[in-house]
Amino acid sequence: EKGGYAHYMQKEIYEQPKAVRDTLSGRVTEDGTRVVLSELGWTEDLIKQIDRIHIVACGTSYHAGLVGKAAIEKLARIPVDVEVASEYRYRDPIVSRNTLIVVISQSGETADTLAALRNAKALGNRVLAITNVVGSSVAREADDVIITWAGPEISVASTKAYTTQLVALYLFAIYLGQTLQTIAQDAVTTYVRELQALPQKLDEVLQSAPQIEEIARAFAVWDDAFFLGRGIDYYVALEGALKYKEISYIHAEAYPAGELKHGTLALIVDHVPVIALVTQDELYEKSLSNIKEVKARDAYVLGIAWAGDEEIAKSVDRVLYVPRTLPFFAPIMLIAPLQLLAYYASVARGNDVDKPRNLAKSVTVE
Ligand code: F6R
Repeated sequence: EKGGYAHYMQKEIYEQPKAVRDTLSGRVTEDGTRVVLSELGWTEDLIKQIDRIHIVACGTSYHAGLVGKAAIEKLARIPVDVEVASEYRYRDPIVSRNTLIVVISQSGETADTLAALRNAKALGNRVLAITNVVGSSVAREADDVIITWAGPEISVASTKAYTTQLVALYLFAIYLGQTLQTIAQDAVTTYVRELQALPQKLDEVLQSAPQIEEIARAFAVWDDAFFLGRGIDYYVALEGALKYKEISYIHAEAYPAGELKHGTLALIVDHVPVIALVTQDELYEKSLSNIKEVKARDAYVLGIAWAGDEEIAKSVDRVLYVPRTLPFFAPIMLIAPLQLLAYYASVARGNDVDKPRNLAKSVTVE
């Protein structure tokens, strides 16, 4: 049933181009000029009333939510807060009548996320669920649902669910922006075209698996790894570090690159692996100078950057290139190498990749 793959996780990583295609399917007009989310059936008035959005989720889904915040704020100019469900549900958050609550859950059964949804409904707020499971508790209880068509995810570590959550959030952000006219029509067309090009580009990214395996083997002898990024790259770094520690059991930390000198730099020593994500053009020089800081302490730096970036190669020990897309969609390109890095580090350490110790696929208790 693993279709020739050694583990479900590996299979699910390779299913991502198809999963992205399926999640996009039917959600853009044939001429590629508009996003259609007919499952929402929202009126323009309803959308105009939304004055704030709270995104609530756990783990990997929370990390997708962070990228969603960046997308929605950029395209629709609606303020977004993102919070871990186990915190949000006990915090008495300030929720206006027109605050939209977005819960994200692959399984649709995560206890804390479901509780946050119920609290919001009790307050009378509209709840939109982004979930992978049709008929799950979250899907049944939310006012509106966007299904991510990732297909069943069996491995405990979430991979294709994350990628499709990102796609759903991008679609939602464009949908809001096109309705509120916070983005021009030609920008909508560009976004849609780029979204449709992602599956093909993801296929290309996956071809670097042999290189990543070799790097992961070298990294797996180390007891630490640091994932650095700025802006959206930092949000992907968080997900990369979670995946890495979750299945390889190696201590991993994600850091906003500019925060390094506020403490973490003390931990950067000779040869410690640093994974630097460098795709956000306006932050490029800043990121490069952070890479120089860790190189000066003899870290071993793997840079992940856009194909064609020759500058980066001069500053790092090893580069992995990913096909260029809009800076905004970079997470879709960056996550596959990070998933593979975690996967091969776990394999190198002889771990049970699909069933990491102490973890369950669906966390239905607090
Ligand atoms: C990590 C992972 C978890 C889940 C989290 C939320 O790889 O899979 O962090 O993302 O338990 O689960 P869902 O999305 O089902 O609510």
